Amino acid sequence: MRHLLSTKSLNRDDAVTLLDIAEDMADVANREVKKLPTLRGKTVVNLFFEDSTRTRISFEAAAKRLSADVINFSAKGSSVSKGESLKDTAQTLAAMGADGVVIRHPASGAPQVLAGSGWIDAGIINAGDGTHEHPTQALLDAFTIRRRLHGPASRGRGLDGVTVTIVGDILHSRVARSNLWLLNTLGAQVTFIAPPTLVPADTSAWPATIGYDLDAAIDAGPDVVMMLRIQAERMNAAFFPNSREYSRRWGLDDERFARLSSHSIVMHPGPMNRGLEISSAAADSERSTVREQVANGVSVRMAALYLLLSGDREDH
Ligand code: CP
Repeated sequence: MRHLLSTKSLNRDDAVTLLDIAEDMADVANREVKKLPTLRGKTVVNLFFEDSTRTRISFEAAAKRLSADVINFSAKGSSVSKGESLKDTAQTLAAMGADGVVIRHPASGAPQVLAGSGWIDAGIINAGDGTHEHPTQALLDAFTIRRRLHGPASRGRGLDGVTVTIVGDILHSRVARSNLWLLNTLGAQVTFIAPPTLVPADTSAWPATIGYDLDAAIDAGPDVVMMLRIQAERMNAAFFPNSREYSRRWGLDDERFARLSSHSIVMHPGPMNRGLEISSAAADSERSTVREQVANGVSVRMAALYLLLSGDREDH
């Protein structure tokens, strides 16, 4: 694998292989076993043009547990604020010998531009681009679902027949898009539930059911209920009813949480707006995988870095 830019371009074998390698990495990721020497001598740059807590720290931990050197770059406080272009930033990183670049950018498609540019010869990982994709988030979500459902017998398996209901701001969510493609490739059935104003205008090519009624979706007893963050920074008042109305109709509040089927798990990629899209009782319950998702993110990102940066990189 040369770059990891989207889940839409991952086939089932590649996705399952990555999840299996993440299983192999888990003891190191969780610090039960010492770090591995696999990427000693390699340099990974975290190139973040948008804020992040989980993804940036998780990639840093993953790279360090594989013994890579890590350089953290934040656009705030850099020469980007003086107008420096992505090209000049990339060429600066190339001159410093970056082997891998983990990029988060507000523009959809920025990681693809970097990967195809020739400005830098490095493995590129998309850590979230605009409203387009966030592939490692979807991979860690799939890893978390697979572990909850199959435990130690997860290896080699997809998510065939698993029902996943994804709720909230679909319009602006790169997490929703990456999960849509990956979950479908792994055999799961995806339902999106959202206010009509927070669904893209054309979803005809999406392999998902679209609905607007969260109570009906919960009564259907899905295996997974994944709540999404309301992305206030990407929307104006025309999209958003108001907080109380949103919470009443599309929030996983205490009453809906109590009605969930006994086998359903609750997911959220974070950061959470507690009391808006999810109640604290739901977020902090034993059914919630929120903290597992964060922990599993290190294993999955170790697997991605390993596939891209160990040995000779292959075109993919
Ligand atoms: N889930 C996620 O991408 O979180 P951060 O924005 O904190 O990285």
